[in-house]
Amino acid sequence: MNFQGISSNFSEADVEALAVAVFKGEKASSSALKELDKISGGHLSVAIKSEEFKGESGDTALIRITPKGKMKASRLLIVGVGEKKDYKAAGVSIAAGTATRYLRKCNVKSFALMPRYDSNAVEAVQNSVQGAITSQFELDKYKTKDKNNKSISKLVVCVDGAKPGDLKNGIARGRAIGDSMNFTRDMANEPPNILTPAEMAKRAQAMATEVGLKFEVLDEARMKKLGMGSLLSVSLGSDQPAKLIVLRYTPSKNTAKKGDLLALVGKGITFDTGGISLKPGEGMDAMKYDMSGGATVIGTMRAIALLKPPVPVIGVIAAVENMPDGKASRPSDVVTASNGKTIEILNTDAEGRLILADAVAYAEKQGATRIVDMATLTGAVIIALGDVNTGIMGNDQGLIDEIVAHGRDSGEGFWQLPLGMEYSKQIRSDIADIKNIGPRGKAGTIMGAVFIQEFVDNAKWAHLDIAGTAWCDTVRPHQAKGPTGVAIRTLLRLVENSH
Ligand code: BES
Ligand code: ZN
Ligand code: ZN
Repeated sequence: MNFQGISSNFSEADVEALAVAVFKGEKASSSALKELDKISGGHLSVAIKSEEFKGESGDTALIRITPKGKMKASRLLIVGVGEKKDYKAAGVSIAAGTATRYLRKCNVKSFALMPRYDSNAVEAVQNSVQGAITSQFELDKYKTKDKNNKSISKLVVCVDGAKPGDLKNGIARGRAIGDSMNFTRDMANEPPNILTPAEMAKRAQAMATEVGLKFEVLDEARMKKLGMGSLLSVSLGSDQPAKLIVLRYTPSKNTAKKGDLLALVGKGITFDTGGISLKPGEGMDAMKYDMSGGATVIGTMRAIALLKPPVPVIGVIAAVENMPDGKASRPSDVVTASNGKTIEILNTDAEGRLILADAVAYAEKQGATRIVDMATLTGAVIIALGDVNTGIMGNDQGLIDEIVAHGRDSGEGFWQLPLGMEYSKQIRSDIADIKNIGPRGKAGTIMGAVFIQEFVDNAKWAHLDIAGTAWCDTVRPHQAKGPTGVAIRTLLRLVENSH
């Protein structure tokens, strides 16, 4: 996709269509729309007054226009963005995505967008570009026919009075973030026979080489030496060896407080059968996305390498397949994790916490002072929060508050659930230090979190349960169904505001 930023002459852009954001209840006589209403021969005001366009986010109306003078476009698309007072950078991305998906269906190849977020030109352009890129992601990679063959190849973003440097910067940032989100989504969508733990490591390595991150992978022998008995217990039943993938970003100029290191840790279960505590067959296919946390870390690290924030970040991804087999671990097995704690495995389907235990401990051993782990950890979080909010828990209210606030600015919801001793007590085992499940049917999401907490020592830590938000079952005006790339934008704001 080709991008251009302009600061004036919107209607004269060399494109097939114009798209403009319209607020809820806005009149066609407003200063921003007056000229466009004239160009449309009054059809814009008719559309705005009509019942089918209310200016809500996702609303669209297409108006045919007759090019005159220097104008090339023959279509005008109005895109609802909701109330003006609630319009944020995240709304820009939804509007750009909605326009892109709408216009490409009409066989349009190029359009100019006026997102009307003039208070911050970089954010306006960045979110337009990112929204356009992520809106064109489709699930049809493995189709040999009936592939989506329509695409927008050129987008011109117009921000009134913007500086050329801001336009350029916004395009580069939007491209870095949008492409990285699609990188994560593509990985999350891969079938598990193709995306094995080894393949996940290979792709992370290729990405690292491309963008200039340090890459390392720990094989099972190395992990055994480090005493990672918890992680390794999960891969026992699989023919695919586990991999612990480590990505390191070191800034050329470090403005972080001395010794500060942020770690992003991801659950990368390339397929979760449940192991010996086998899942029911129905819906098991969905468990290919159980590596979404890991894919999110890899995509976020990619974007970090391109955006070059002045703080160091380490990414740790535990890539493991959970299969039932003669060698698989059994409910009642006891294993020892790398921090010395013993774990009674009472359900082999609660495997995400088992691999995160050693991954989180490893991140802290590498010097992490702040740890954010992300995982499709529990079905319970889907029951509690649906596909709207990611569950967030942790040991440091400041870190949690920061993530929730950045989420709000990114258009990503996070909802905090409580932790505490009363919950932690519930994973005490009769025969070992802890067990990997709590009481049946009670606070499942929190039980996952308090388990991981046992492997965090002094670091500030937040846990994101993305089981409900990493995958969307329905198509949206700005987004295909399938993997969402959730949390990447929020984490990038966290990283970029860390100095
Ligand atoms: N990967 C699943 C969690 C999950 C379930 C994600 C459904 C998305 C949709 C996880 O490994 C798991 O199986 N968790 C169990 C834990 C239970 C055995 C304590 C669960 O949530 O049922
Ligand atoms: Zn499981
Ligand atoms: Zn799982």
